[in-house]
Amino acid sequence: MNDILHRLEEKRAAARAGGGRRRIEAQHKRGKLTARERLEILLDPGSFEEWDMFVEHRSHDFGIDEQKIPGDGVVTGYGTINGRLVFVFSQDFTVFGGSLSEAHAEKICKVMDQAMNVGAPVIGLNDSGGARIQEGVASLAGYAEVFERNVLASGVIPQVSLIMGPCAGGAVYSPAMTDFIFMVKDSSYMFVTGPEVVKTVTHETVTQEELGGAVTHTTRSGVADLAFENDVEALLELRRFVDFLPSSNRAAAPPQQCRDPADRAEPSLDTLIPANPNKPYDMKELIEKIVDYGDFFEIQSNFARNILVGFARMAGTTIGIVANQPMVLAGCLDIDSARKAARFVRFCDCFNIPIVTFVDVPGFLPGTAQEYGGIIKHGAKLLFAFAEATVPKVTLITRKAYGGAYDVMSSKHLRGDVNYAWPSAEIAVMGPKGAVEIIFRADLGDAAAIEARTEEYREKFANPFVAASRGFIDDVIQPATTRQRLCRALAMLRDKRLANPWKKHDNIPL
Ligand code: HXC
Repeated sequence: MNDILHRLEEKRAAARAGGGRRRIEAQHKRGKLTARERLEILLDPGSFEEWDMFVEHRSHDFGIDEQKIPGDGVVTGYGTINGRLVFVFSQDFTVFGGSLSEAHAEKICKVMDQAMNVGAPVIGLNDSGGARIQEGVASLAGYAEVFERNVLASGVIPQVSLIMGPCAGGAVYSPAMTDFIFMVKDSSYMFVTGPEVVKTVTHETVTQEELGGAVTHTTRSGVADLAFENDVEALLELRRFVDFLPSSNRAAAPPQQCRDPADRAEPSLDTLIPANPNKPYDMKELIEKIVDYGDFFEIQSNFARNILVGFARMAGTTIGIVANQPMVLAGCLDIDSARKAARFVRFCDCFNIPIVTFVDVPGFLPGTAQEYGGIIKHGAKLLFAFAEATVPKVTLITRKAYGGAYDVMSSKHLRGDVNYAWPSAEIAVMGPKGAVEIIFRADLGDAAAIEARTEEYREKFANPFVAASRGFIDDVIQPATTRQRLCRALAMLRDKRLANPWKKHDNIPL
């Protein structure tokens, strides 16, 4: 027996050693942790149950059969984050560059399958040179097995990718189909074709970092949701992030004990809106003043900054927040903000997370760039997402809600459950000045006449009371009481049940 135990320990030690001391040192020199060190930070101490530590690849070509490292370049299993079950895979760059072999893919698929069976999130820590070159099509088949599972798991269990090294070629498509992508600055990159191929084909000279680094994907492409300074920060923030999420579409996000009073008044909100309707204010200030402990986990904070999305809690319950940001592009909706918010709304709807929407939107951004880029289709994504969502929907209009954008932003007409407005709300087809210029185009009159007509329009429509008189707004509330009113609305909606008509799936304008 002792012999067997000894052999077991030897095998385990070989797996733990990964690609060996030299490669581990090289990993550390780049500021990167190893696959196992990462899991130690991500998971609760002592909670990790490893699977398939002894799995080895089955290839023979190019001398690879002489090199077998138990685990085959990926550490997989399950553990807990703040006591809640998660499944994980962590690619080990020190073993064949973390490249994906058939066996490596089977290990990932095994944890994905079990996560689906028990209803728990899958978190992937990606650090891989892509398809195991020595294996050829067997490796490509392995990727496709993972892709198919990503798709089937979408909307069933949360899937989160943390890119901590290379992720290139077709390999990018697994993270791309997960719900959230986080990246580490300077050590991770994602691209379909690398700088050398780009140079050959388009003659562009670009570095890895410029082409597909964390900053690029969180500011320009919107492919990734957040960029972190280093592995440790990324993993600790991922722990905080997972706390907001439910384990599956069969569960609600776990409520947290909340000592922040649900009826807490916030008098400073009474003066948040500037007297001048064209002056911006920071919507984030409003969010942070009303959510539990001011804790707002913003997603895509550096992309399409004219809309804010992220998670927070109200009276201990997770909510998803969508909010126009008047500080950027006056809060207009455009292609990127519509895409960003639509995907977020759909995530919330998949996973039973109530959506709170804060509206201050002067309309859609005009211009050829927007029209040629397909704002019609992209704007429709957000409209579609809000309209199909059956989770509790609470909306607050703080100031402008003009034109089609009024309808889009979780209005009453899209099955908004509770729609409130502040007294400063202006709900109209357009702003008073633009309206007067169109209605009286033939005879605008002198400056005084224009001013008088603008004032008349403002009086008539640029307020919340016309909408409230139709019941499109349930109440006009005092800003200071916002937290209390929203907490009550969300509590009332806790057991909301609403279903859409049966269909195979819808056909959102992609
Ligand atoms: C097998 C690989 C590998 C791979 C790296 N290694 N990538 N082994 N298959 N894909 C091995 C190296 O041989 C080396 O082994 C070790 O990992 C570290 O690699 P280095 O090149 O020394 O590291 P570095 O300089 O940091 O460069 C990392 C890299 C580079 C940029 C990822 O290795 C690279 O370009 N690899 C190939 C990438 C690639 O073309 N992959 C296929 C893409 S197509 P030793 O023993 O020396 O430590 C693809 C399709 C997916 O992925 C399809 C899905 C549909």
